[in-house]
Amino acid sequence: MKITRRGFVGSIGLGTAAGILSNSNIFSRGAQAATEGSGSAPKVYDGGIMQLTQNESARGPGPKTIQALHDHISKRLGRGYAPDHVDDLRIALAQRHAVANEAIVLATGSGPLLQAGVRAFCTADKALVTVGPTYTTCEQTAREIGAGLKVIRVNDAMALDLDAMAAAAIGAGMVYLCNPNNPTGTVHSAVAIESFVRQVMRDSPATRIMIDEAYIDYVDPSVMQSAKLLAFEFANVFITRSFSKAHGMAGLRVGYAIGQEQTLKALNSAWNLGDINMLAAIAAITSLNDTQHIVEEREENTSIRQFTVAAFHDMGFEVAESYVNHIFVNLRRPASEFRAACLQHSIAVGRDFPPMENTHCRISLGSREEMLTAVEVFRKVLA
Ligand SMILES: Cc1ncc(COP(=O)(O)O)c(C=O)c1O
Repeated sequence: MKITRRGFVGSIGLGTAAGILSNSNIFSRGAQAATEGSGSAPKVYDGGIMQLTQNESARGPGPKTIQALHDHISKRLGRGYAPDHVDDLRIALAQRHAVANEAIVLATGSGPLLQAGVRAFCTADKALVTVGPTYTTCEQTAREIGAGLKVIRVNDAMALDLDAMAAAAIGAGMVYLCNPNNPTGTVHSAVAIESFVRQVMRDSPATRIMIDEAYIDYVDPSVMQSAKLLAFEFANVFITRSFSKAHGMAGLRVGYAIGQEQTLKALNSAWNLGDINMLAAIAAITSLNDTQHIVEEREENTSIRQFTVAAFHDMGFEVAESYVNHIFVNLRRPASEFRAACLQHSIAVGRDFPPMENTHCRISLGSREEMLTAVEVFRKVLA
């Protein structure tokens, strides 16, 4: 079913769309969810459940990336202990960011880099400063290794409370700053991040700052820019990026960090960052070069987000100002209740995000077709 942009926006509130689960793309889903190309009838790994739960991409990689993957399935895959394309990916990223090759470290997704950061820089005496709510890998790692932990609640606008974070950073091992933030979807401008970094580096020069930009490609550059230049001024600042979001490659596992060589070496020795494989590398290079696809992906996601947010506003619910592929909605009821009700209709929405699990739920944005169906279900279960 093809739904035009106009027809899609025009259908807000009509509740007519047929339920079509888009399983067209095996590469957009991570470990828990994918389809298998066995014979002519692909196996549905998602079990027929619409996945609006893990901030993956419903559309997957762009057509050029899919083509590049097909083109590289050959006997050459039998050779790969020194895999082709992996060095090329690092060089391509260095060129894209206008940095030396040594300023890039690759990982199998950005997740291992988050774990590495906490393991490298936090201890019982050197706390992790993180946010409630934010992406929780750093917090979980801090708990695993018994590191100190300071969780700073987001402000009333659901944005990071940068002043409180800067105060908490004094004497801390590392600050985890997720911009755009997951699950709230909120962003901070380059000016705001620069002023935060300068304050922390002045008041607590030994503290590391990890800036997670996993969702940056969804945001119009007029709203936010990367903080990467700060990583070259301050050795203690580094950036993490992911190909799992706008590039639609969660199932291929590619992430990287940008920072000064000594900081990246510390990450590399603190945790196993994994080995990128040949197909993932060629896909990442192709997607990186296909800048037009990312622009289109951003526009498509923005249109789907506007439709979904408008539907929640129409139902009388507040939504944090999101710029990314998920929204955080104040449903005035526990997320668990909403989750269970949606699951009855074969839709999986986000997990609990303390401290807001009794009021808010995160909903990842699916395809147009999926969101037409999902909004119909949301109207029913929230009525
Ligand atoms: C903010 C943020 N950072 C990092 C990750 C890890 O993603 P990946 O390991 O697929 O790059 C996620 C995944 O959802 C995320 O939301």
